[in-house]
Amino acid sequence: MPFTIVRDDITRMNVDVIVNAANTTLLGGGGVDGAIHSAAGPSLLKECMTLGGCKMGQAKATKGYDLPCKYIIHTVGPIWNGGGFGEEQLLSSCYKNSLELAQELGCKSVAFPLISAGAYGYPFLDAVRVALQSISEFLADSEMQVTLVAFGLKTLMIDEENFEEIKRYINELSIGQFGEGPRHRRLPDALTDPQPETTTEELVCDAEGFARAVTKRMAELEIDDKELCRRANISGSLFAKISGGSGQLTKPQALGIAAALAEDTGSAEKLLRLAGYSFSNSERGDVVVKYLFDKGITDIVEVNRTLFSLDAGLLGEIW
Ligand code: APR
Repeated sequence: MPFTIVRDDITRMNVDVIVNAANTTLLGGGGVDGAIHSAAGPSLLKECMTLGGCKMGQAKATKGYDLPCKYIIHTVGPIWNGGGFGEEQLLSSCYKNSLELAQELGCKSVAFPLISAGAYGYPFLDAVRVALQSISEFLADSEMQVTLVAFGLKTLMIDEENFEEIKRYINELSIGQFGEGPRHRRLPDALTDPQPETTTEELVCDAEGFARAVTKRMAELEIDDKELCRRANISGSLFAKISGGSGQLTKPQALGIAAALAEDTGSAEKLLRLAGYSFSNSERGDVVVKYLFDKGITDIVEVNRTLFSLDAGLLGEIW
């Protein structure tokens, strides 16, 4: 399954398992560790005391106790020490070991905080990059639903200059000034509210034509369905429906597939039309996606990080 990014408090997440950014003692601390322990209640510490600590990069599980989740996976991120001491490898292991443990526990949905991005001082944008890369790689072979919880964060942008340029471009189109937007998990926009597209011509979904176009493009790119799912941020089960020529896609799903397959904005538009949609110049999410596609930025992680930072809906099979 794909990943999504939300602004929330991880202790409120209604998923099978949440991941805690713990320390090697597993006996609690501040930050998200403190928040999880206080929300889960004293029984959590009692169980943690039986675990005998945890090595950096490793992961151990406990019950969720008073939290809405079934389990808590405690992982210990690296303390940033300049980058020359294997920090990136250790941080990536935190995500991968936690995801593997969640899979062993039979979990279908997992939420992560940004491990090591707080007290452990990992440079924030690198912490985001390693998180999204590690999660995306794992999801190439998994149907798990993964949420990255960006607690109280406005932006996950890497390239500030590009970001400012996009905001200027969007403001010029006067489709919503950017400032301190409301603390929504996600603002409604055309990408998330599948309203009928207001275009001069009626757009009709040609599911079979879409399936043929997808299959043809995959052959040209020599990619298999797993790689398509990873690039488009969709699940294998949705891909099965698409390739069978059945099922109405949402616009975020169709755009995720366009990001994965289209060679340029024109071909993305053609794919969109087969799915019964088109780019709308009056909606922020569409304008951002079109802007990025025009610049050749179609990597789903980059596109979604930008959409998240601009309070627009993400691409792919988002819930
Ligand atoms: N929900 C989601 N994310 C949160 C929450 C929350 N309730 N509270 C904090 N965060 C975010 C922080 O904003 C940061 O982005 O979690 C990320 C990780 O920050 P820390 O909690 O400081 O974790 P880390 O940097 O990995 O340091 C771990 O801090 O709390 C101690 O015991 C912990 O010693 C360990 C160290």
